[in-house]
Order: sequence, then C-alpha cells, then structure tokens
Amino acid sequence: LEVLIKGLHRLEYRGYDSAGVGIDGGNSKEWETNSKNIHLIKQTGKVKALDEEIHRQQDVDLDVEFDVHLGIAHTRWATHGVPSPVNSHPQRSDKNNEFIVIHNGIITNYKDLKKFLESKGYEFESETDTETIAKLVKYMYDNRESDAITFATLVEQYYITVQLKALTSQVGISLHPSRRGGPLLIGVRSDHKFSTDHIPILYRSSGKDKKSCNTLPRMDEDTCLFPVDEKAVEYYFASDASAVIEHTNRVIFLEDDDIAAVRDGHLSIHRIKRTAGDHPARAIQTLQMELQQIMKGNFSSFMQKEIFEQPESVVNTMRGRVNFENNTVILGGLKDHIKEIQRCRRLIMIACGTSYHAGVATRQVLEELTELPVMVELASDFLDRNTPVFRDDVCFFISQSGETADSLLALRYCKERGALTVGITNTVGSSVSRETDCGVHINAGPEIGVASTKAYTSQFVALIMFALLMCDDRISVQPRRREIIQGLKVLPDLIKEVLSLDEEIQKLAAELYQQKSVLIMGRGYHYATCLEGALKIKEITYMHSEGILAGELKHGPLALVDKLMPVIMIIMRDHTYTKCQNALQQVVARQGRPIVICDKEDYETIKNSSRTIKVPHSVDCLQGILSVIPLQLLSFHLAVLRGYDVRLFSTHFHLTS
Ligand code: UD1
Ligand code: F6R
Repeated sequence: LEVLIKGLHRLEYRGYDSAGVGIDGGNSKEWETNSKNIHLIKQTGKVKALDEEIHRQQDVDLDVEFDVHLGIAHTRWATHGVPSPVNSHPQRSDKNNEFIVIHNGIITNYKDLKKFLESKGYEFESETDTETIAKLVKYMYDNRESDAITFATLVEQYYITVQLKALTSQVGISLHPSRRGGPLLIGVRSDHKFSTDHIPILYRSSGKDKKSCNTLPRMDEDTCLFPVDEKAVEYYFASDASAVIEHTNRVIFLEDDDIAAVRDGHLSIHRIKRTAGDHPARAIQTLQMELQQIMKGNFSSFMQKEIFEQPESVVNTMRGRVNFENNTVILGGLKDHIKEIQRCRRLIMIACGTSYHAGVATRQVLEELTELPVMVELASDFLDRNTPVFRDDVCFFISQSGETADSLLALRYCKERGALTVGITNTVGSSVSRETDCGVHINAGPEIGVASTKAYTSQFVALIMFALLMCDDRISVQPRRREIIQGLKVLPDLIKEVLSLDEEIQKLAAELYQQKSVLIMGRGYHYATCLEGALKIKEITYMHSEGILAGELKHGPLALVDKLMPVIMIIMRDHTYTKCQNALQQVVARQGRPIVICDKEDYETIKNSSRTIKVPHSVDCLQGILSVIPLQLLSFHLAVLRGYDVRLFSTHFHLTS
C-alpha cells in the first residue's frame, strides 16, 4: 500500500479529483479461489484523504506480510460522472470484486456496451465508462466455453469483442495491463539478472487459423522475462515513469495494442494481430531521468506544458461532438435545452479574467450565427450593477475551475430571476457544472498552471460549437457553417505551426524583458486577444501591459505611443483590415515601431512593418485562437527572463477568487 500511495503522490502533479486502490488480500493462489479477497478503497479529494481512508478500514490487516502480492491504484480526473467514491477507479465487475480495472482515457462506444450488458442483467453502480470494461470481462467469463480460460485470454477476447473505440490504457487485476493510445510502461526490478533484455512479442493468431483464437499463445522460458534462478521480482505498471522511478530505472515501454501479462513471476507481451512493420520485441531500457524531469517532460513549467498541449486539447474539446464529414455538431449537454435556448431573447455571457475574454472573443460570431443580442459581462461588475435579468434570458457561465466565487454568485443571481443557466466549464462535478441547468464540459484536461492557457482556447472552441449548433437548421448560413467547421478541422495543425514560432518569440522576449510596459492593440475578433495577452503579461511577468481597442486609439491612448514604448499590434485580413492599417499608420506617425502579429500571407503588412510575427491563416472567427498563442508564449518567456519562477505558478490550483 505504501508503494501504491507513494506512486499516486508522484502523479498528483497531473491534476485529479479523486483516487482509489484495489489490493489482493494475499497469496495469489488463495486469491484465485477467493475473489472476495480483493479490497477496494476509494475516496474523493486528495491522495492524503485516500491514505486516511485506508487506515480507517476495519477489514484490512496492514501488518500481514505476503510472499506474492499485487495491487492497483489510480487518480481520476472526472469526465464521466461527478467525482465520488463510486465513480473512482478501480471499477469492478460485481459486488464480489471478481474483476477490477483502472483505466485512463475514454471509451466512446460505452453507452452501447452498457445497454447490452444491462439487457443481460448486469447492474451498473457508477456513471463511468470504465465500469463497462469490468462488466464485459465478467460477461465473457460467465459465458466461457471452457473452465481452463485464463485471464490473459479473457482480456484479449475483450479487445477483439469491443474493438475499443478509444484512447485508453488500462490495468486489470490479475495482472493484465493493456495499452491503446494512452501511455503505459512497465518498471522491472530484481536483485537478480533477468532472463533477457528483449521480450519477444507473442501473437495470438495469424488471422487464418481460427482455432488459435482460443488457445493460449506459446509462453515458455524463451518468450518471457523473469529473474534467473526464479528469485524475487517486482513489476510496476504505470502510465508515467514518475510513479516508478524511485523503485527502478529499468523500464519497458508498451506500444499501442500491446497486452502484457504476469504469471508466476514471468512477464510476457502479446499482440492480437501481426501487422507489417511490427517490432518483434520490446526492450528493457534504462531511464536516465530525474523525477523532476519526468514530471515536467521537456517543459520547464506547467504553463509552458499546457501552452504546448493546445493542439491536443482543442481536439479533446471537439471529440465526439463535431463531425467533419457531414458538417454537424452535437453537444450532448445542450440537446434537451437547445429549443428553449433558440427561443430566448438575449444571451448573456458572465465570467472572470481569461474566461471573460473567451466570451469577448466569440461574441461577434455568436451574434452573427444566433442573430440574438449578446452581452458579455465581468461577473463582479454584473453583480455590482444589479443587472436586470429576465426569464427569457439565457445566461452562460464560463469558468475553467467552475468554482470562481463571483461567477457562482452571478449564477445564483440569474437562477433566482428565472433565466436558463448554461455552464461552460473544464471541471466535471464543479459548482458551475452542478448548479447550471445544462452546459458543455470543455474537456481540455486538468489545467494546473495558474495562468490559464489551454482552457481559453478550449472555451473558445466550445462557444464556437454552440454558435454552430444554434443555426444548424438555417439554410442561409450553411456555407458559413461549413467554412467554420472545416476551419475547426485544420485548427490543431495551425496551432502546431504557431507553436513552432517559439524560438523567434523567445528572442523577442529577450529584447523586451527590461521594459516597464507593453501595449497590445487590435480590434474586431482580436480585441479579446489584446485583453488576454495583456492579462497574461501582467499576471506572470509583473510588467505593466494594456490591451487597447485600436478604434479607441485616437480618443486618448495614442498619447502613450512614442519611439520608446513597446507596442504589439494584431492585424489580420478580415473586415477590420483597413482600419487596423490606419491604426498602424497612427502609431508609426508617432515614431512607434510596432511588432505586428499578422497573417503569414499578408505581404503588404509584412513589407510595411519593421517587425512581424507571422501566423497561418484561418477562418476570421477562429483566427483569434492563433493570434493569442504568440502572446501566451511571449508572456511565458518574459516571466522567465525577468527572473520570476514560473514554477511558482504551477504549484497551486486557482479554484476560488
Ligand atoms: C457526456 C459524458 C462524456 C461522454 C459523452 C458520450 C459526462 C460528464 N460527460 O458528454 O464523458 O463521452 O457523454 O455521449 O459524463 N452540464 C451542466 N453544466 C455544465 C456542464 C455540463 O449542467 O457546466 C451537464 C450537461 O448538460 C450534461 C452533463 O452535464 O447533462 C454532461 O455534459 P458534457 O460532458 O458536456 O456532455 P457530453 O458531451 O454529452
Ligand atoms: C488568468 C486566469 C484568471 C482566471 C479567472 C477565472 O490567467 O487564470 O484570470 O481566468 O480567475 O477563473 P475560472 O475560469 O476558473 O472561473
């Protein structure tokens, strides 16, 4: 238990909301005959709370010593069902804990599997997709053709049966981990020499020989890993090297669709089908990394890591929701309310900080596609004003954490006045998620860096999807909808392209970091980028920065511009292009030398500007996702150069205001 709990502590940096362990009660032989021997202990909240729960257990004797023992542990970030002990992993097949499983990822076809299993009389206790794995394995076991079936065969049959449409890695007792999409590695430890340092892959069937599907693959001394002389051995299966590195630095990385099995201290690796180009073996590698290094990967802080995660996090926001083939959008969380929303008189988006900027960024496209008046409000000001709200209003609460105090107060205020409330949040089970009438989880994954980055771009995408949904039956807007949906399709690649500017932006930061202030100007779709860029710079570099609407320049702010003041301007080829060019002229006329973030094919601006950051072109209403990323990177590099420890921003969550 100590090893498991310590391993979970090492994974805490990834963010989670609940945790659990499953342990066998003794010797493996005993376990095989008495599955009731498996204990599950699960708890919402921190690993520490789980540890306390373990010590409260009456029926677990913590002083017993075993020769053979196994256990599994997991931290969960809720995606299916709220954080609660019953939704935590391990999930189980039945009340006797005959099969238990932990799992990272999502099973997109779990609803069909669940329906099937329920029709066969299996009762589900959690809201998770994971529970279907344990139940389906149990179903296959209950319907087995022969009593000689092994757990290894069951897991393989499970894979063949469901063709898991998912990015997952999972570990089941006893002990059978498999990997598809999600990372999974095996740490090996023994004081004795291992039989091999290359484990050959075993194949279940060639596809031609039907009979071999039901027979065990060849497992003998040549195809397994074990310590010679049959001495003591420990195997650690983990989704992350940080959980095992203090026990061993000898690891085997599994590849997609690998299944690993341990039996009597022997480790074997199987694959169901042989495909061309498969590597015939998995090698034991020696990890040279320190714990700190593993946790942060190649990144120096969580903020940086999360900025670079954006090509994947926006995909996760759209996963299962946008169909790029037939240009449709489905938001499961809104389907029962969409008609009511379409009938409303006004949309109000209410939020704080970065989440407010996501509202500013998408307001125009919401106005365009919904043809409704759209207000964007800072929660604190909205409350200060006692803003009138009516029953036929729809109020959106945008919040990464779902726990920001002012946003929550505003939510309760709007509910009291009878408005329909909609949440846009990253945190399943948060107050915003629970207290709103309906909503959309943005599924960006835990955001640990305090400066919000990937949550912003995912909120942006979620609001765009909502706008698309609102007009899906209006014939006149179909060409526009298609343009935006196709724009969403290529967005991850374009984000990658912007991220490749990192080095160039680092150089720019080196030129700017000793300045006192930086002004960021733009208009239209990019006003939000100016506000968000300036907020990031203030928040983490302690430098003054201001986002200025370019249309307001001549009404005062121009006075700040001279040859010394650093100015960043955003000029994109949309309906504000000419006006932005005018603003550029005004700045240049005051001897300003702006750094222009522009479209990489806007040769005119590139020619006329002394310094440009060139980003790829996207649909006008999505371009803001690409214009903000250089500023996220800039703020990060400025903070590092100014000597602020960006790690400090990564050690706590920004839950409440
Ligand atoms: C849901 C599952 C998702 C699964 C998918 C398969 C959850 C949390 N989500 O996603 O894991 O892959 O079905 O079809 O189980 N809600 C609010 N307020 C908010 C956010 C959400 O009330 O701020 C409500 C929604 O109205 C909905 C539920 O929470 O009833 C889940 O929302 P969401 O995760 O966005 O729904 P799906 O995308 O359908
Ligand atoms: C800025 C930042 C904050 C949050 C704000 C709202 O980098 O992180 O401005 O955006 O505190 O937080 P949530 O979105 O959790 O309601």
